[in-house]
Amino acid sequence: MMNESYVFYQGKIVDESQVTIDIRCKAFNYGLGCFEGIRAYWDEEKQQLYGFRLKEHYERLLQSCKALYMDIPYTAEELCNWTVELLKKNNFKTTTYIRPIVYKGSTELTPTLYKDNDNRVLIYCQPLGKYVGSNALRTAVSSWTRISDNMLPPRTKATAAYLNSALASLEVLQNGFDEAIFLTQQGNVCEGPGENIFLVKNGKLITPPVSDHILEGITRNVVIELAKNELNMEVVERSVARTELYNSDEVFFSGTAMEVTSVVEVDRRIVGSGEEGQVCKKFKELFFDITKANNPKYRHYCTPVY
Ligand SMILES: Cc1ncc(COP(=O)(O)O)c(C=O)c1O
Repeated sequence: MMNESYVFYQGKIVDESQVTIDIRCKAFNYGLGCFEGIRAYWDEEKQQLYGFRLKEHYERLLQSCKALYMDIPYTAEELCNWTVELLKKNNFKTTTYIRPIVYKGSTELTPTLYKDNDNRVLIYCQPLGKYVGSNALRTAVSSWTRISDNMLPPRTKATAAYLNSALASLEVLQNGFDEAIFLTQQGNVCEGPGENIFLVKNGKLITPPVSDHILEGITRNVVIELAKNELNMEVVERSVARTELYNSDEVFFSGTAMEVTSVVEVDRRIVGSGEEGQVCKKFKELFFDITKANNPKYRHYCTPVY
């Protein structure tokens, strides 16, 4: 364990070593929990750490809690404030990943959400640079189908849902690729194991709609906003067929951990030029500028910690 790591747990900031989970708890046994993934970006020049879209992440967490019947006694604003306190306490001066998780602490044997108010709230954080080793990912469609909204709703970012992600990743990594792409039960392109997907075709930006069982990514929303407001691109949210990936001009992923990263190969077919595309590059430039509060138009997305 890291030295002197502080976490938020049940209303207080405490030393990480003080938090333990019971081997019988429902979160561990049945995956009854939901979480968020947030980044805080370090700006060396300004010597400042910026929490990125904290409020949107905590609003999504509260929506997940609502769907899963896991009430917690905090507002999104309170959770934002605790997060700032936590980052300060850890004295991070580097880009950091923040993991809030709400889980069932109850040790009752049955995997129910019913009549059980033991919802624990934990936030931990750790430095995180680039999530993937490459700017140009080789991907493959997984033979594992994406879970659906009426089965294990991806929208709730439930911990249990990530077994589906893990199986898809396992398959494609063992086959020598960098990342997986999921199809829905209907056979439409869905998302990656931990990121949303975009296609660029004839100057249009295309992405699967929220009704195609995706997690409604906060980075996805930023990309859509930038496309419309900064790049003057038409954005089309519609179902996407697998082979459309093969004949796109560009494909890229978006996500908190993944940030904006280009996909240059799908199912052993080269996408576009086979290199990081120009449109993806533009999104990256705009995105990284915004995360460090350099663009006044989007400064409200960033919460300074120090
Ligand atoms: C399955 C899945 N899709 C998409 C995303 C991207 O969402 P966001 O941009 O909010 O990080 C994530 C990451 O949290 C994810 O786990």
